[in-house]
Amino acid sequence: MSVGKNEPRRDGPAKLTGRALYLDDVPIPGCWHGVTVRSSVPHGKIKSIRYDPGFAWDECVVVTAKDIPGKNVVALIESDQPLLADGIVRHREEAIVLIAHADRATAYEAAKRVTIEYEPLPPVFDMEKSDKTFKSFLIERGDLDAGFSAADVVVEGEYRTPSQEQAYIENNAIAAYEENGILIITGSLQCPYYVLKAMKQIFNRDESKIRVIQTVTGGGFGGKEEYPSMIAGHAALLALKAGRPVKIVYDRHEDMAATTKRHPAIVRHRTGLTKDGTLVAQDIEVVMDGGAYATLSAVVLSRGTLHAAGAYECQNVRVRSKVVMTHTPPNGAFRGFGAPQTLFAVELHWEKIADQLKIDSLTLRRRNIFKLGSTTATGQRLLESVGAEECLQRTVKKSQYVSKRKAYDRWNKNPRNPTWKGIGLSVCHHGAGFTGSGEVYLASRAGIALTRSGELIVLAASTEIGQGTNTMFAQVAADALGAPVSWFSVETPDTHKVPDSGPTVASRTCMVVGGLVSRATQELKRAFEAEYGRVPQTPADLKKAAAALCAGAPARRFEVSYEKPPEVAWDDATYRGDAYGVYSYAAIVVDLEIDKLTYEVRVRKVTTAQDIGKAINPLLAKGQIIGGSTQGLGWALLEEPIFKDGVMVNSQLTNYVIPTSLDTPPFDVILVEKPYSRGPFGAKGVGELPMDIPGPAVAAAIKHATGRLIATLPQTPERIASSLT
Ligand code: MOS
Repeated sequence: MSVGKNEPRRDGPAKLTGRALYLDDVPIPGCWHGVTVRSSVPHGKIKSIRYDPGFAWDECVVVTAKDIPGKNVVALIESDQPLLADGIVRHREEAIVLIAHADRATAYEAAKRVTIEYEPLPPVFDMEKSDKTFKSFLIERGDLDAGFSAADVVVEGEYRTPSQEQAYIENNAIAAYEENGILIITGSLQCPYYVLKAMKQIFNRDESKIRVIQTVTGGGFGGKEEYPSMIAGHAALLALKAGRPVKIVYDRHEDMAATTKRHPAIVRHRTGLTKDGTLVAQDIEVVMDGGAYATLSAVVLSRGTLHAAGAYECQNVRVRSKVVMTHTPPNGAFRGFGAPQTLFAVELHWEKIADQLKIDSLTLRRRNIFKLGSTTATGQRLLESVGAEECLQRTVKKSQYVSKRKAYDRWNKNPRNPTWKGIGLSVCHHGAGFTGSGEVYLASRAGIALTRSGELIVLAASTEIGQGTNTMFAQVAADALGAPVSWFSVETPDTHKVPDSGPTVASRTCMVVGGLVSRATQELKRAFEAEYGRVPQTPADLKKAAAALCAGAPARRFEVSYEKPPEVAWDDATYRGDAYGVYSYAAIVVDLEIDKLTYEVRVRKVTTAQDIGKAINPLLAKGQIIGGSTQGLGWALLEEPIFKDGVMVNSQLTNYVIPTSLDTPPFDVILVEKPYSRGPFGAKGVGELPMDIPGPAVAAAIKHATGRLIATLPQTPERIASSLT
């Protein structure tokens, strides 16, 4: 058995030793460098584009919207975003002109020789003043008025969360060229088939004439979910016009200023409870800032809305949500996908409720938390794999939350101590896979190939972006066949080689695509048994079996498609039913201290229990949990995108500070494994869950330390100082 073992990660050695070739390292003969001329106003009409006559333009290739052969659109949900601005710009850093040159520095120089004149139009930067809503949702359960009439107390709160930069190590980078009439796109990306779909519309080409290949990718975190379609379109326009390969590699400033980030959000709660702390009414309002184009905002809002009431049962719930347009670069996918924003609010709100009811927030959570058989706000009954309570219990016990709360209260009373100490708690659920009918619509496919020479190759479009996909797929396939993991390799995500297994997003790769890989491998197993008499036992046996099964063909493929579990029912029109096939669960305790002189926060310890169904590779799962939690701590304490006139002004890693290994506290990670019957070997999702709740746990710990509830992030020394004066 391989599942459950810490198989060494397959991409590790090449990345550690520097042998792995990222896009900018890949030798592409004759490749030119593409650069982008961007808007310098947040909203305006383009009046003219002038090219400095003193520059050698004949050495360059220049592209504008007029050069687009098909539709000027980055195809996604709404298709409202142009590939290149034509006439109007709706945000700063919007792409208008593209230039390619053989020499990178000369290409940048050329970009400086382009002057664009605008007629400015009024911008909107405040999401509460926007008059354009991209999407809204309504969830209703029970009778809200009756719930509030039955309440002994009503507690209101408003919570705000900021944007966040994905800050992957490798910036966005894509190359394009044409070979034998096929447009080849290669680079750093999460979702090869999303890029393929976008290219079809831009170039009016048949799918067979487009090929998208992922290169080694230095992180994504959602930031390479939709944006690579834009750069791919840009690189391809330049390449086709130049008749040679062109690559576009963003520098850090450009990547941070121009590309998608987490949606800022405002969440308001009005909560009714009986005096023993039982929830009887939750009225929740969510506003998210979508930026200038719709991109993925509707689905980010959907996930945020579906998680807004938290992992608690309440008979009477209303969630009203909307995502609106402002004149900033579009916001997009970021690990958690809307859930960290709404979970921050519902989780921190418990501290406010605790003060008002004079019942501690742990007791309140225990009273209301999801259990087996609970019903969610959309009316979904949780019939299996509900680890919320166990995560809570084990985190509280392991962290000594209760005794430390008392000990820190005593510590904080002594004015001679140099610090305040605090300990805070949060709990959440996180839906695995696409929402509702999303997985049905995706109709993902994955498979396994057996070559005549006896190679076993997993076929999936899911990308390795640092999370361990390739190792996990090999382990799942090995155990599905009952063969050593070393027999299996994983094909590079290349749209000419692998089926469309959907995007690498939404904590779906292990549970949904891993499930497909497992089913496909079981088909292979049945074929071995039927046509060879047994599953091969040795490498020599495998070679013989392969020759028998392939019968002269170079390879045989076993592919399966997603099948909706029959018990899952969702209605998109009413937003009722089974929003997700299953949920993962997590609880976290953050233990910290604050310097009384500088207000600096030092996180002393993080304890977290996460129910992910089954850890296919426990070490990789813990890596996801520690990494995701640290990203959450960054959002909570350090990361502050500062916008001025609709553009991020601290768009450098010197002034946008993310946690490094030195900021990573000691972690106690507890894996809780409540198996899900539809997941491979019981597995659910782990990718986004750890990002969800470090924020509210930090805010609760700071409240415990200082007595002040700060309802926004990041909780910087400045913000803590001003809360105390
Ligand atoms: Mo993800 S944030 O669903 O790419």
